[in-house]
Amino acid sequence: MFQDLKNRFDFFIRSHTKFSRKNYRGEIENAESDYVFDILNQNLKLSKRENIKVLDIGSKNWAYVRGEYKFFKQFCTNLQLDGVEIDAYRLYANLYSRYEAAGFYTKGLKGVNYYADNLLNIKEEYDYIIWLLPFVTPYPHRSWGLPEKYFMPEKLLEHAYGLLREEMLIVNQGEEEAEIQKILFEKSGILYEPLGRILSDCLEFKNNRYGYIVRK
Ligand SMILES: C[S@@+](CC[C@H](N)C(=O)[O-])C[C@H]1O[C@@H](n2cnc3c(N)ncnc32)[C@H](O)[C@@H]1O
Repeated sequence: MFQDLKNRFDFFIRSHTKFSRKNYRGEIENAESDYVFDILNQNLKLSKRENIKVLDIGSKNWAYVRGEYKFFKQFCTNLQLDGVEIDAYRLYANLYSRYEAAGFYTKGLKGVNYYADNLLNIKEEYDYIIWLLPFVTPYPHRSWGLPEKYFMPEKLLEHAYGLLREEMLIVNQGEEEAEIQKILFEKSGILYEPLGRILSDCLEFKNNRYGYIVRK
């Protein structure tokens, strides 16, 4: 109760002030990007075509955008790669926001857009959707500072499915979240293919990760 009040207040302030130091310059996150490239390579089979539209959901600072860009660009001439993040103005200890950092990671990538917005406000359709580590239980949602009113995993999943034209890759953290993800698919009547554990030589994580593919 108190935690939610605090999250609502902080979220309101940062979303409205949009404060950040300017001109973030960091290191390009090659490890995260290589990891994302690798898991896409292992789990998505694409054919070449002129145009591809991709949505990344819950992009945070989008440190891994180059992995997605490199993967999809192999298959098309024109790539539109959009990332959506509801809490884009969350600040790091150095007073740069995720939004500012995302500006750095996406710099120079043609056709890439980072939206500081709620997934529910996205209305366009996408050929591919990538959703890495959705919040499917209230605890991580709360501890990442989001107000409870935005915790609606079933509604978000159904919305994402409504935007999808071809394939969506969802990766969950830990067995419990992967089990809950399955329940969400079943409640929403969405057919899915479990991929089992998602492994990559590029990065190792404390919690095992599990994947699902949803096809239209
Ligand atoms: C566990 S993080 C995963 C971040 C990133 N995909 C990664 O793998 O590093 C989940 C992200 O989803 C974002 N998120 C939660 N609800 C959302 C919504 N309704 N619309 C857009 N982003 C949302 C959160 O703010 C958070 O940044």
